[in-house]
Amino acid sequence: MTDLVRNEPERSGYPDSADESGRQRHFIEKLGEYVEDRTRRTGKRPSACVVTFGCQMNARDSEKLRGILECAGFELSEDEGADLVLYNTCTVRENANLKVYGRLGYLGSLKKKDPDKVIALCGCMMQEPEVVEKIKKSYPFVNLIFGTHNIFKFAELLCTALDSERMIIDLWKDTDQIVEDLPEQRTYRFKSGVNIMFGCNNFCTYCIVPYVRGRERSRRPEDIVREIEKQVADGVCEVMLLGQNVNSYGKNLEEPVTFAQLLRQVEQIEGLSRIRFMTSHPKDLSSELIEVMKNSEKICRHLHLPLQSGSSRLLHRMNRHYTKEQFLDLVARLRREMPDLAITTDIIVGFPGETEEDFEETMDVVRRAEFDSAFTFIYSRRSGTPAAVMPDQVPDEVVKERFGRLLALVQEISRKQALKVQGQVQPVLVEMMNEQDPHLVTGRLSNNLLVHFPGTPDMIGTIVPVELTRCMGFYYYGTMCPDR
Ligand code: SAH
Ligand code: SF4
Ligand code: F3S
Repeated sequence: MTDLVRNEPERSGYPDSADESGRQRHFIEKLGEYVEDRTRRTGKRPSACVVTFGCQMNARDSEKLRGILECAGFELSEDEGADLVLYNTCTVRENANLKVYGRLGYLGSLKKKDPDKVIALCGCMMQEPEVVEKIKKSYPFVNLIFGTHNIFKFAELLCTALDSERMIIDLWKDTDQIVEDLPEQRTYRFKSGVNIMFGCNNFCTYCIVPYVRGRERSRRPEDIVREIEKQVADGVCEVMLLGQNVNSYGKNLEEPVTFAQLLRQVEQIEGLSRIRFMTSHPKDLSSELIEVMKNSEKICRHLHLPLQSGSSRLLHRMNRHYTKEQFLDLVARLRREMPDLAITTDIIVGFPGETEEDFEETMDVVRRAEFDSAFTFIYSRRSGTPAAVMPDQVPDEVVKERFGRLLALVQEISRKQALKVQGQVQPVLVEMMNEQDPHLVTGRLSNNLLVHFPGTPDMIGTIVPVELTRCMGFYYYGTMCPDR
């Protein structure tokens, strides 16, 4: 069934990034020839649809995958009826996997009607051997599977798949390679994600990310700055620096650099107006970073600081390396230094061994930290992680009941926090036309709140002053104040 399964990079030692991007450009050209040939044969340019599951890392990877497809001449589409469909998958929680299986069933029915349809899968879920076994058995119509470490090889692998009748599988266990300078097709003209590092070394006991994304690797600051400069020249005014734990950026570089130092360099980029980043691990948040944020004109007033649990006992079992008190102290310090900072978080309910007392500690932190918003998750058992085999898994009914209580509290506090900026005039980056009302545009404040206000399409991508007139709970209605 399988043409090619590789568990290791194909050469001993890793090729140099410039060599590799040159090699991939050769395969993009080859794909281009396939596209031209097919267009001549069918009278229609082949279309391609990339569907993203999961986090911003995956969203950014998808921009690169789309860039490769666009460069080869495919017509990009949002419709899964396209000639080529690529799923960029996530496996952080069980329901992320279930979604992919459900949609694959549907893709299979489309392929029955159109046998030339090409179906490809990549991303975090594919790094799990049991997943690939299941796909080989239950979804044999898939043409191509690759993983997170060799995503830069997409053009090459697609060429192989197009030449083959069989399922092509290429998965690497890990890599220390970072390939620069591949094409990208950004979702937004005016804002972009930029990876500053890949992988994670933290091994929080519930989390599968380190197993599917590999060890932490930082990009060199000069490569990051060059990429952002290029994007700015292309119309970008806001960047989001991406990493699983940006606060440990640069530690393993030949010439170590701190995240705060990187921010200082990014801040210098002329024409760039806003800088965001995620995610910050509380254990590594430095005073230097607080100082840089506080004195920056460009770094947005938003920090995503995942709590996970408010119980020091559970935090220890989660391998998070901080206590409830340390987390609260950090939040208090951040609020003292930057009173207008929005702090958002992630919380897991139902981690193995969570008692009512542990859960109350989480509720207590939520009340005291007054998060501006929080993503709340029901603990999902991920096989291969230490927590999956911890003895005292919490019954579903108990978890659901706690989850409901937490969500209600989080929402009540978010509403209160959002009210703080009522009546103020703040700079807003206009992101899109409002989806319901064509007279309104939708934009984002520095603190990440959304605001809808009367505007026109030409405002998209510009930063304008807006008076925040009416708070609707988690978002605002406002009016533009052109002369402020
Ligand atoms: N690197 C980031 C988070 C990446 S995953 C960090 O450390 O903050 C995003 C969020 O998914 C995590 O913050 C966590 O809250 C949640 N998550 C991860 N694994 C999970 C699991 N097994 N069950 C439920 N939620 C999980
Ligand atoms: Fe997962 Fe923890 Fe790494 Fe975040 S820091 S990706 S939660 S292991
Ligand atoms: Fe999911 Fe992978 Fe991101 S598992 S959350 S897409 S790093």
